[in-house]
Amino acid sequence: MAEQSSKSVLFVCLGNICWSPITEAVFRKLVADQNVSDNWAIDSGAVSDRNVGHAPDPRAMSCLRNHDISTAHKARQVTKEDFAIFDYMLCMDGSNLRDLNRKSNQVKNCKAKIELLGSYDPQKQLMIEDPYYGNDSNFELVYQQCLRCCKAFLEKAQ
Ligand SMILES: *[C@@H]1O[C@H](CO)[C@@H](O)[C@H](O)[C@H]1NC(C)=O
Ligand SMILES: *[C@@H]1O[C@H](CO)[C@@H](O)[C@H](O)[C@H]1NC(C)=O
Repeated sequence: MAEQSSKSVLFVCLGNICWSPITEAVFRKLVADQNVSDNWAIDSGAVSDRNVGHAPDPRAMSCLRNHDISTAHKARQVTKEDFAIFDYMLCMDGSNLRDLNRKSNQVKNCKAKIELLGSYDPQKQLMIEDPYYGNDSNFELVYQQCLRCCKAFLEKAQ
């Protein structure tokens, strides 16, 4: 196998208990299925500090379980260091994007490419609706959306 440089990605949403831990777990599985786990550092984080230390929302856990994916993630807030460490910071909606761009202006050495994960969507659905306010079908919708975006992102980034 050709030697590949290692890459890193941080998935970011408001609270790090619904969308971003789902996306992190989905991307981990894709990378494992492709046998490229060694090339990737993967994590997720929150813009806000309100859920720090919490496990994902039970609806996020059950959505992942339905797809035979598990996660042991505990919510954490994005730090200044993250901007210097990660190659990519991929977020859910316009509000996350604004927050991350604002914070990136306050750090000296921002390396991260800050983007909407939806910008990789082959079906061109740029924004992702926060499933927190929805039901199980909203979580499933978000799962499908982040699966196809993560596939496209992985293909493009590796
Ligand atoms: C990953 O590795 C497994 C076990 O070695 C192999 O069966 C599978 O085909 C590989 N998958 C890819 C996408 O290379
Ligand atoms: C979820 O909510 C939508 C409306 O937002 C509704 O149409 C749908 O039937 C609900 N699904 C479930 C499984 O409750």
